[in-house]
Amino acid sequence: MTIDARTPGLSRRAVLRAGAAGAAGLALSGGARRTAAAGAGTARASYVPQPNPAQAVLRVAATALDPDGMAAVGGVTANGTLPGPEIRARQGDLLRILVENQLADSPTAVHWHGLLVPAGMDGVPGIANAPIAPQRVYVYEFPLRQSGTYWYHSHWGFQEQVGLFGPLVIDEPEGKPIVRDPVVMLSDWLHRAPAQVYAALRDRGSAGATPQAGTGGMGSMASMGTADLSDVRYDAFLLNGKSGAAPWTYAAPAGEPIRLRLINAAASTLFELRLDGHPLRLTHADGLAIEPLEVDHLLMGMAECYDAVVMLSGPGSYTLHAVAQDGSGQAIGVLHTPDVTPQANRAVPAFDGRALRYADLRAAAPTTLPDGPARVFDLPLQGDMARYVWMLGGQAYPRADPLVIREGDRVRLTMKNETGMWHPMHLHGHFFRVLQGGGDRCPLKHTVNVAPGETVAVEFIADNPGDWFFHCHNLYHLEAGMARVFQYRV
Ligand code: C2O
Ligand code: CU
Ligand code: CU
Repeated sequence: MTIDARTPGLSRRAVLRAGAAGAAGLALSGGARRTAAAGAGTARASYVPQPNPAQAVLRVAATALDPDGMAAVGGVTANGTLPGPEIRARQGDLLRILVENQLADSPTAVHWHGLLVPAGMDGVPGIANAPIAPQRVYVYEFPLRQSGTYWYHSHWGFQEQVGLFGPLVIDEPEGKPIVRDPVVMLSDWLHRAPAQVYAALRDRGSAGATPQAGTGGMGSMASMGTADLSDVRYDAFLLNGKSGAAPWTYAAPAGEPIRLRLINAAASTLFELRLDGHPLRLTHADGLAIEPLEVDHLLMGMAECYDAVVMLSGPGSYTLHAVAQDGSGQAIGVLHTPDVTPQANRAVPAFDGRALRYADLRAAAPTTLPDGPARVFDLPLQGDMARYVWMLGGQAYPRADPLVIREGDRVRLTMKNETGMWHPMHLHGHFFRVLQGGGDRCPLKHTVNVAPGETVAVEFIADNPGDWFFHCHNLYHLEAGMARVFQYRV
């Protein structure tokens, strides 16, 4: 297992090595590169664990964005870019992130999605932290107990939808096994304000209409019958902040492994992914190592992360397609060998061949939980279309009871999806085991995508005291109540 649940720390040897590696501790793609580790290279004997501190600064500000070249839209970004800067650190580092809220009139809060942070660093206003007021700074600081592909995003209002998100990559303590490891971050984009979209959903709900059904009928989704594929009609789908008109490109020699760090940062879009002419060898799910699994395509719910290793078969351009599940469009990127000019294939591919199924995922090592008292929750996923209210276990947040647990509990959740939509259910501060045919190798995930009509059970050990959000990662469902709080009590 990748997680080191012990008190994080580095041996003295590792501290010296980290000092020598120096600035590798943190790289911001925007060019700024800082570490607070001045003098970390100085030998210093200590019996106190001293993680190598790495520091990033995120300046949250209103930014006019026009990623698809169709309309300038008022967004909110970190450091002015979409997505925000890539934060890279190393397992065992102490990561310190200054968030400066430069917005004139809105609070913000940044959440470190998938990271096992202490409760007070989780960035959920009203649960883990107070919101960061306009013109104020907050310093998040936490040890990195894990490695892999993660991300950060605003947990305030609809800021995530309008651009406040970015990748957070934690390298393995012993270095990068594959040197080419670009982030592929998917998102959905609106030309109108998300608050307006949400108000319209609520109005349509109260008018008694059912949500607009998706266009459906795409390959593997055809069998879903009357399921509602999406509530929101998007203007564009983006890959690393770029639309299909001028897509993201990446050059690598044929035959060399490329580790694609796939992150679905969309607010309410599931994507079907496929790379022209190549299978995808999945090596990590939600940041953590799995037994490598080869698929031809995979469905990614919002907030899910996968690492896929590919090797270009020969000279040429190969388009990576991320098709919105409702069939309304796609995000693309182009992998190519250095000898050719990248050329995009904008045709929508067929999704035949091997699909990823959760039941095929196996963790790289046993994941069975330590013993502890069992605590069981039955949490059906429900929607009240007449009011556009989404519920978890019969209640709609914030008018919902806390789910009370105690440290050391083995917590088991059963989620029966009683709706016609997919719900990527996400737990903060813990990984859960997805209980689907994996035996002692059930995969650990932070987000599990529950299909319409399906029942999924997960379990986790209560080993991180605090209050933790548990919610659907569809931003509009979250806003409409599909959330609860796990609360540790003594
Ligand atoms: Cu990505 Cu509440 O989380
Ligand atoms: Cu999270
Ligand atoms: Cu949902």
